[in-house]
Amino acid sequence: MDKKRREILKFMLGSLAGLVNLKTLPSEAHSSISSESQFINLCNLAISHEYGAIIQYINHSGIIQKRKIWSVLLENMNDEVVHARELTRILIKEGANPTVAAWPPQTGKRLIHLLKEDIAGENAAIELYQQILDLPESSSYRDVIYPFLKREMVHRERLQRLINALSPKG
Ligand SMILES: [Fe+2]
Ligand SMILES: [Fe+2]
Repeated sequence: MDKKRREILKFMLGSLAGLVNLKTLPSEAHSSISSESQFINLCNLAISHEYGAIIQYINHSGIIQKRKIWSVLLENMNDEVVHARELTRILIKEGANPTVAAWPPQTGKRLIHLLKEDIAGENAAIELYQQILDLPESSSYRDVIYPFLKREMVHRERLQRLINALSPKG
């Protein structure tokens, strides 16, 4: 994850949760923060990240002229819609309030720049789902959430293939 994105992630996690990463807290502080709220906060962060990705993919697919490329972005976007909705359903089951906040989408003019932004988004999503799956509370939702992680990896691979095709080695 690039530095800017990591900073936004930290900021959003802080503003959504009023928390910092549990791993960075002294052990006595852990007991005052339930891991359940960490699960809910990370799911909310993932929802807002998905919303940001959806907006970003719509924007990039509208800017990019080559059908072969924008159609891949739309394919990825369709999965993000499913992810945002399923996470919303999980939070409703948990009695929490699913966010409607969107992570700030990134845009630009150059094709390679857009695709790199999209890869950065996928990397952040992968990191986020890995963190969620590490929490014990995610075990009841593993069947739902683990496939999200796998899809984000597929998305990243698709984008990487597009970039590789644009810049052949040598
Ligand atoms: Fe997603
Ligand atoms: Fe994705």
